[in-house]
Amino acid sequence: MMTLRKENDYSWDFQTENVKRDTHCFHNYPAMMIPQIAERLIREYGKGAKSLFDPYCGTGTSLVEANLCGINAFGSDLNPLARLIAKTKTSKLCVKELEAYVQSLHNYLLSVNFGKICYPQNIPQFKNIDYWFLPQTISELAIIKQFIDTIENNRIKDFFLIAFSETVRESSLTRNGEFKLYRMTEEQVKKFKPDVFSMLLSKVNRNKKGLESFLKKTNSFNSQVYVFEFDSSQEVTLEDESVDLVVTSPPYGDSKTTVAYGQFSRLSSQWLGFEEADNLDSRLMGGAPKEIFPTGFQLLDATIQQIASIDEKRAREVYSFYVDYIKSISNVANVIKRGGYACYVVGNRRVKDITLLTDEFTKSIFEQFEFEHKYTFIRNIPNKRMPRKNSPTNETGKTATTINNEYIVVMNKK
Ligand SMILES: C[S@@+](CC[C@H](N)C(=O)[O-])C[C@H]1O[C@@H](n2cnc3c(N)ncnc32)[C@H](O)[C@@H]1O
Repeated sequence: MMTLRKENDYSWDFQTENVKRDTHCFHNYPAMMIPQIAERLIREYGKGAKSLFDPYCGTGTSLVEANLCGINAFGSDLNPLARLIAKTKTSKLCVKELEAYVQSLHNYLLSVNFGKICYPQNIPQFKNIDYWFLPQTISELAIIKQFIDTIENNRIKDFFLIAFSETVRESSLTRNGEFKLYRMTEEQVKKFKPDVFSMLLSKVNRNKKGLESFLKKTNSFNSQVYVFEFDSSQEVTLEDESVDLVVTSPPYGDSKTTVAYGQFSRLSSQWLGFEEADNLDSRLMGGAPKEIFPTGFQLLDATIQQIASIDEKRAREVYSFYVDYIKSISNVANVIKRGGYACYVVGNRRVKDITLLTDEFTKSIFEQFEFEHKYTFIRNIPNKRMPRKNSPTNETGKTATTINNEYIVVMNKK
């Protein structure tokens, strides 16, 4: 009996699972992968694997899961904030040492509350800081940052920086629940009174619990994690045929018209002093528009032509993303061992009412690099934070559902 190779499979939905278990609770980020998906892919396609690679590792969901299965993990991302989160989520910190710092933080904030410390030094001088933060919040954030800067153990320092970064975002005047930077209304600003110190402490406590759970599950393993900053569409600096398994979720499209990772990270990055975060969105895949030439992939070329017949500019944006995507897959394919697997979790978004069949494109591109298609599982996305609606025609008020399903494309290197 022939089995279907592409079908709906609700067992990949994980509707009721805790997606914030272990260190996955550390920091929110747009379009995070569900840890249960990474875990299941590793268990099903990584039997006996020694290494996993995620070329768009974001906050390191698949790196954490690799470590939880005792596998070494390599990840890369162009966003410095994402790299910091990924590294920290996989850092095997000494809890005793961490607890001593948590106690010092409590004491320090108490002295602040009793008026013993009131003048923060080093308030960052970035543009529009007053537009995004209340004056009191700026002082309190700077006071916290002053404490964190005194921590000598860099890995522990990063642990606090992660909690600080989320506090920056939540205490800012950005509208809640949006990844792009929009300011609250004046009415909302008047009512907004963030308790910055409590926010920080609750994140530190939550993350400490997550860390303890991660450490308990990984203490019998000696697996390592390496986080790089290479642009996978330019190069992948791992040895050829050295990786057993790739588990990744690439961006759905260029950052400007899909998920703005740079905008999401901007305020945190400014407080953390990540200069390379400027103009991040234009450096991510598809960020630099190119002139259209045939890619050689029939379905992709036909789709781009269809969009071009309606809107040439949008077609160029779409094309630029896929050109980078093809280069990235070619680099990734090279580092996978024969017999190894590439598992790509992708979304098929719509542009100008035309669906971009990224799952099919992914399959054809890998096939060109000697991979065989194993399965495509189609899942619902109940708990991935994504813009579900956009304006496909750019007419105000006219929206269409962009992505309700995800496609888990599994390819095997011959
Ligand atoms: C869907 S997110 C990955 C989320 C991740 N799986 C997680 O759970 O946090 C895609 C990531 O790709 C990164 N990215 C985009 N273009 C890139 C490129 N050319 N090279 C490396 N990373 C890139 C973005 O910064 C973003 O973090």
